[in-house]
Amino acid sequence: MSDHKPTPTDLLAIGEVARRTGVAVSALHFYERLGLISATRTAGGQRRYARHVIRRVSVIQVAKRMGIPLAEVAEVFADLPQDRMPSKVDWRRISERWHGRLEARRKEIERMEHELIECIGCGCVSLRSCRVLNPDDELGSNGTGPRLLPEISAD
Ligand code: FES
Repeated sequence: MSDHKPTPTDLLAIGEVARRTGVAVSALHFYERLGLISATRTAGGQRRYARHVIRRVSVIQVAKRMGIPLAEVAEVFADLPQDRMPSKVDWRRISERWHGRLEARRKEIERMEHELIECIGCGCVSLRSCRVLNPDDELGSNGTGPRLLPEISAD
């Protein structure tokens, strides 16, 4: 870890971070409220960001492109030090995790696509027989139709 403490010239105003990342100032405010980035304040109350915040914002943008929820970005950021740029090792760990997530999503989309193909030309949209409409129908495989409630005795 570096002993270098940021000087005022190392710190960036929010407009500069917005310009360098292509992210709107309002989005930067939002990321700050979520704890994804942080800023110090000038005596006048203006936000100032360390330069490594640009890298964090870039990682957030990558996550957004891949459909990774911000809550999950917050999880991976929780393991990163706030006072430095994510390293190559950090990024490898994050990207491997998100690759696994994309892979699981790809498999789920393939499964749904396969089920939807069975619907093409059918049109029944039936709780009993359509796996797209009723994908977790565990009772459906025994061929007796839905039975959600236990039988009630007339005794
Ligand atoms: S619409 Fe008939 S199986 Fe899905």
